[in-house]
Amino acid sequence: MSAAAPPSSIISVRMFSQRSHWKLNPNPFTQAQEQLRAAGQPILDLTVSNPTCVDLHYEAEIILQALVSPEAMRYNPQPKGLLRARQAVSDYYRKQHDEFDVDPESMILTTSTSEGYSYIFRLLCNPQDEILVPRPSYPLFEFLADLEDVKLVPYPLLYDHGWQIDVPSLYQKVSHRTRAVVVVHPNNPTGSFVSDSERTQLNHFCREYQLSLIVDEVFLTYALDGASRPTFAANREVLTFTLSGLSKISALPQMKLAWLITSGPADRTRPALDRLEVIADTYLSLNAPIQLAAPVLLDQRHNLQPLLLDRIRTNLEQLDRALARAGVCRRLALEGGWYAVLRVPVTQSDEQLVIDIVRKTGVLVHPGHFYEFPSDGFLVLSLIPPPATFHQGITRLLDYLTPEAGTTSLNNP
Ligand SMILES: Cc1ncc(COP(=O)(O)O)c(C=O)c1O
Repeated sequence: MSAAAPPSSIISVRMFSQRSHWKLNPNPFTQAQEQLRAAGQPILDLTVSNPTCVDLHYEAEIILQALVSPEAMRYNPQPKGLLRARQAVSDYYRKQHDEFDVDPESMILTTSTSEGYSYIFRLLCNPQDEILVPRPSYPLFEFLADLEDVKLVPYPLLYDHGWQIDVPSLYQKVSHRTRAVVVVHPNNPTGSFVSDSERTQLNHFCREYQLSLIVDEVFLTYALDGASRPTFAANREVLTFTLSGLSKISALPQMKLAWLITSGPADRTRPALDRLEVIADTYLSLNAPIQLAAPVLLDQRHNLQPLLLDRIRTNLEQLDRALARAGVCRRLALEGGWYAVLRVPVTQSDEQLVIDIVRKTGVLVHPGHFYEFPSDGFLVLSLIPPPATFHQGITRLLDYLTPEAGTTSLNNP
């Protein structure tokens, strides 16, 4: 006699880890998008953050040529990454940051900043140790932390004519399990840089509690005012891990080349680097063609960054003009990065609002709760879609949000 098969929920609990116990069913927002796509309705995507899909001109021949190197036929496993590629990154910092020298030995190449985060979490944390992370911020932190059994403890960014780190809250949130503070410079999606005074306070806080700083600088060069901001790779006050990579610097996320730079007091950086090298050696995840192409791929920033900055400024001007006409919503102050945040009247949850918006106007925007804004009433828009798409999208969006000013909608084109 065969026993009845256990229900699938019991199989899941017995067979799989708790950390992979995600809600895998599509949420109502994703379902709404899927239904519209299945019905063949065109969608104006104002959430797109993939630069390779927004009609930017890439020098394809130069990029592809760089990937063909006879040297790639030899396997040269280097835990930190090939010296030549690390020198190219170091050269990038010298040119970008006023002759600032990054020692290639202080750098580990990774396939992505996500991989960089996972190396750092493994270096610093035992299971259930805590990392302080900004809120609102980048939603992927949750998954990166879950996968390393690390607990995230959010600290708020406060808005008052611009975003600021709530420094006193760091002192309230720190515990004996805290290992590090994450800052995103500039933050996604608030577009706020870490100010000089915040940097000083963060260093003071980390020194006092023996914590490390983890600094995500993927958007550092996208300052709207064109002024260059200092990199934390030069921070020597406390043990600091600075993350960046090609995905934003050269708008080449598909090439999968990123890095983490370790700086700080020598008695901390040396053991940190020795241990990181073992973590990296365990995976050796980078491929040779990309590393050999690093100088050329980094050089592509001279082509892509001006195009993107021009795109971002153009779309932002369009947005501000449309907002001035519409009246009801306002854009929050923004210093850099690829996103804008709108404050909209709270009539329902952000999730229901974005579902209604996409169903009624065909425009896709992100709800603030994806980034853990403190309340409803926030929408997040990407500033990198092609200007014609962006213009059409915000016109429909603002007409929907302020119907009395409306001129277009899907039902009333
Ligand atoms: C703040 C932040 N960090 C990291 C990344 C991802 O970078 P990578 O492609 O190198 O993993 C993103 C992607 O949008 C981001 O917004």
